[in-house]
Amino acid sequence: MSEEHRPAYHLLPPSGWLNDPNGLGQRDGTFHAFYQYNPDAPVHDRICWGHATSDDLVRWRHEPVALRPDTPADADGCWSGVLVDDGGVPTLVYSGHREGELQQACLATGSSDLRTWTKDPANPVLTAPPDAGVTVFRDHCVWREDGRWRMLVGGSLHGRGAAMLFTGPDLRSWEYAGPLLVDDGSVGPGAPDWPGTAWECVDLFEVDGTHVLAFSAWDDDRLMHALALTGRHAGDRFVPHARHRLDLGRLTRGPRRGQAAFYAPQSFRDERGRRVLVGWLPEDRPEADCVAAGWAGVLSLPREVTVRPDGTLHQEPVAEVATLREELVHDGPADDLLLDGERLDLELDVRLPPGGRVTLVLRGVEHRLGRHGDGAWLERDGTGGPVPLDADRVAVRALVDHSVLEVFAGGVPLSSRSYAVAPTTVSARGAEVSGRAWTVGPAGPAQP
Ligand code: FRU
Repeated sequence: MSEEHRPAYHLLPPSGWLNDPNGLGQRDGTFHAFYQYNPDAPVHDRICWGHATSDDLVRWRHEPVALRPDTPADADGCWSGVLVDDGGVPTLVYSGHREGELQQACLATGSSDLRTWTKDPANPVLTAPPDAGVTVFRDHCVWREDGRWRMLVGGSLHGRGAAMLFTGPDLRSWEYAGPLLVDDGSVGPGAPDWPGTAWECVDLFEVDGTHVLAFSAWDDDRLMHALALTGRHAGDRFVPHARHRLDLGRLTRGPRRGQAAFYAPQSFRDERGRRVLVGWLPEDRPEADCVAAGWAGVLSLPREVTVRPDGTLHQEPVAEVATLREELVHDGPADDLLLDGERLDLELDVRLPPGGRVTLVLRGVEHRLGRHGDGAWLERDGTGGPVPLDADRVAVRALVDHSVLEVFAGGVPLSSRSYAVAPTTVSARGAEVSGRAWTVGPAGPAQP
């Protein structure tokens, strides 16, 4: 599979289909990433859990498939979920999928190296509460609080996005505590941060003292965007204060044009205390091209999430990404730069006075950074959003890995894809740019 578009320093399976990251975590120093996986073809069907391990979050080893759809409760797919530690026993909580039914929560317990998994005979351990108006019910966020387990399940209540809360003394007996939060309908379709009609992949966490409820807004099979609400979580309630897009990127060319280019993120707290977020970067080309290539879907680079003093979220690739750099190919003024190479890492310091503009062309795709009132605006193909300015300056990081493009401007990411083979250029008008650029080595697991 020597295909020019295949990423070489992002995590993807040897072949077949990948969607959501699952069961992210670190145990005894080793990072684990599981993911929605169809080993048989690059299409979403009969989903298994793929598994990879790493010592540094950027160099991954493929591990045996962790879960396959082979029991009555998950006969047609092992959908998204999480890894928890149940009194020392590694345990996966995932959504068992049966065609035509709402998903149901299932468990599997693992060996200490997380390579061998045994499904719980009690599966499913939870089904959607009857008569509650639930029309979508899947994906899990599970934690311990006050000596009890708590679980959020994402979905839809009476046609509105919701995170449903369950509590239990163990992972096998759950009680419905009601919705932690239901969309209030105040932001409608068409808004760039519309919460959709169902919430997938709910994730509740705390970072820098702020509570964050992240989810992926879904609407009738359209993957809208990954959002995060910052606010206050206490007991059975989450009070949102502000809503943020977790990535500005949208697909622009393929059959899912207009939909999220970064979707279904999950986060975990690593052993150093960092909040690390990883999402799924879908393909932006026709299915026939994916079938010809033999693969589809890749995980984003892991990002460290922090909260700025103004309460907004800041994301940047984890520091380990810089260890993949090979050759320094530029150092200095960069307002008229041309670089060859299919794997690049650019770190730019942009001074953007009013009226200034910087154009970054990555693999033939124009990314424009311009002024927008007191802040800046980053866009690709007319899709984008606001970026904070710090005394007229923006720190830009741009990562190219064959067809994967990830741009971070002022800690705001815009992910996308390009299947053009073209050089990278930087140009500026009324702005100053300087910085460094490196080629990046292949770092993925051994390619087949
Ligand atoms: C999000 C999602 C999840 C589901 C999984 C199925 O992309 O639809 O809600 O569990 O993918 O693969």
